[in-house]
Amino acid sequence: MNGLKCTLMHKYIHVVELELDDATGVICKIGTVFGSKHLPIGISVRKGVIDRAELNEWWTGRSIPTSRSGIREALETLEIQNTKMLLIRCYGLSLSDQYWICPKDSNLTWEEINFFSNEFSDDIGDVLFGEKKKANAFNFSSPDNTSDGNLKKRWKIIDRRRCLVKGGSNPYRQQPLNEVIAHKIMDRLNIPHIPYTVMWSQGVPYSVCEDFINENTELIPAWCILNSSKRDNNTSVYQHFVNCCETFGIKDAVPFLDRMITLDYIIANEDRHFNNFGVLRNAETLEWIGMAPIYDSGSSLGYDKVPAQIRSGQEIICKPFKNHHEEQLKLVSSFEWLNFRKLSDVKELITEVLSAEEAKDYMDENRIHSIAESVEYRVNRLQQMILTEKLSQSISTQDDVERDIAADYTQKM
Ligand SMILES: Nc1ncnc2c1ncn2[C@@H]1O[C@H](COP(=O)(O)OP(=O)(O)OP(=O)(O)O)[C@@H](O)[C@H]1O
Ligand SMILES: [Mg+2]
Repeated sequence: MNGLKCTLMHKYIHVVELELDDATGVICKIGTVFGSKHLPIGISVRKGVIDRAELNEWWTGRSIPTSRSGIREALETLEIQNTKMLLIRCYGLSLSDQYWICPKDSNLTWEEINFFSNEFSDDIGDVLFGEKKKANAFNFSSPDNTSDGNLKKRWKIIDRRRCLVKGGSNPYRQQPLNEVIAHKIMDRLNIPHIPYTVMWSQGVPYSVCEDFINENTELIPAWCILNSSKRDNNTSVYQHFVNCCETFGIKDAVPFLDRMITLDYIIANEDRHFNNFGVLRNAETLEWIGMAPIYDSGSSLGYDKVPAQIRSGQEIICKPFKNHHEEQLKLVSSFEWLNFRKLSDVKELITEVLSAEEAKDYMDENRIHSIAESVEYRVNRLQQMILTEKLSQSISTQDDVERDIAADYTQKM
């Protein structure tokens, strides 16, 4: 078997020797372990032996998901079999963490190749956004090869800042506008979050946010924390997550979750799976910095529903802890931080964002009213539930989400 011999690196730290299969891109052999503390969180080591299946799941999980909108066409254009093969072409480098692979005898250094301080090519991003493959000198070096999530997206250097540019799903393409609305609501409520703006390109909206990771930090998705130990059947998913954070010494998980759950109720978020929030860590010292600011709140506000469904408020999916938002609200430990006065004009805020001139092809007045009124209704209902003490904290396994899966938009593109 032919393989690429390399070392898994965590920024400067040598973690483990690997051999990657040339044809499939998967890890076929694990060699000497140099730094097990720097292994990705959740990978088991028993008697010094790394679980290869787990490490492979993590490694292949770095590739673009096969459910990404437009990925089949992009692979055809690139004449590449699968997204795992793209990983090797960029040494597995990402703009969300510090892992990479250093081919044996290549003498490559982090300084030379990381995407935080070095520029990267637009070629892969162009193909992911539907352009034809450049005839000559195609450059595969791009953090787009390791970007996660199902919506069409690319990293772009805009005014020297690394920004994630992300589309929406058909027919309403609402997610980019929703990101802006969620950002404005979180601004009002003092919830730490990533600001988003909207950029229009050929009549299509994209959300733009800056990279919140730099060369010293990294994002550990909540699912890595959740899977770091086994949950017993009597412990709720919420309690298990909080316990895992405590074991790691991650501070402020509860107040963070209070805010995230409340926001998700207000905007009727339908896709807060365990990859859509996480924890920040210093990649060199492995010190925990705290919960990451809230990002990816776009699959909300009835993004895929018609006005009548939005008004009825039925069929709203809830994640990551409970199947229903009102049940999930019962996990909140305190609403004392929540200032309803700041949301007194929430209807106007939403109407203004959705009434952008460029959005006319996707939004009509009826849709905009339904969305704005449904949020106002939810805000009032939340206030009422708090006043009448219907939301005293209750943490049981009842109504727990059983499987954590991201919304798939492939049928809707
Ligand atoms: N501003 C950012 N800085 C660093 N990493 C980010 C940023 N925004 C997103 N990411 C990373 O990129 C991944 C994909 O982004 P995002 O969740 O916004 O996309 P998505 O397509 O909406 O995802 P989903 O499949 O949940 O719908 C995130 O899970 C996170 O790991
Ligand atoms: Mg996401």
